[in-house]
Amino acid sequence: MEIRSVMPAEELAADEVVAAAFGEAPDGRVVQMMRALEAGGAARASLVAVDDKQVVGHVGLSRSWVDARRELVEVLVLSPLSVRPDRQGRGVGTALVAAALETAEGQGAPAVFLEGSPEYYGRRGFSLACALGFEPPSTRVPVPGFQVVLLASYRPWMVGRLIYPEAFWTTDTVGLRDPELERIEALIAGG
Ligand SMILES: CC(C)(COP(=O)(O)OP(=O)(O)OC[C@H]1O[C@@H](n2cnc3c(N)ncnc32)[C@H](O)[C@@H]1OP(=O)(O)O)[C@@H](O)C(=O)NCCC(=O)NCCS
Repeated sequence: MEIRSVMPAEELAADEVVAAAFGEAPDGRVVQMMRALEAGGAARASLVAVDDKQVVGHVGLSRSWVDARRELVEVLVLSPLSVRPDRQGRGVGTALVAAALETAEGQGAPAVFLEGSPEYYGRRGFSLACALGFEPPSTRVPVPGFQVVLLASYRPWMVGRLIYPEAFWTTDTVGLRDPELERIEALIAGG
């Protein structure tokens, strides 16, 4: 398996993998989010996992900011992460996360944020962002799901609220909404 930047001829196949992973139609919300991030100039990387000439996974990185007291800091957000349903559970997602972090380090980003399962991402290098002094971009992001990896150019003053680019808002892909938000909050409260 190879992980590299998506080639123009593979973009449709990558969209199909994303839609299939999230159980959406080919023009579903997550694919629309990726298009909006590109159109708005926030996309910074689009990596694919290719096996036997087939796209089996995808990960995107886009630019956001940490609104630190000293200045606005450009950071990256890892989203979405997708593995074709018939290839899940075989390490493709783990390899894509590692490649995304390597890409982010190569771009000189101080931090990579995401929203997701702390069980999955915690085992792949991520820590709880609130415990490190960051604030989520919305109160609808459950605290355990708001996670970060700090990279070499990170400095201790670079803390504050994570500010998402417009594309996440126009596609309504920030955090969770009721009734899913209520369900997850009840799970967290129940330990
Ligand atoms: C989440 C996803 C990217 C993982 O990719 P993968 O290739 O199946 O993952 P890997 O084979 O590298 O890792 C398997 C591990 O993930 C766990 N796992 C799979 N899906 C998970 C999920 N939704 N939440 C938590 N853990 C999950 C497995 O139990 C296994 O656990 P381990 O840490 O003990 O190894 C993939 O299942 C997927 O595309 N899911 C649908 C889209 C999605 O939910 N994306 C993430 C949004 S934040």
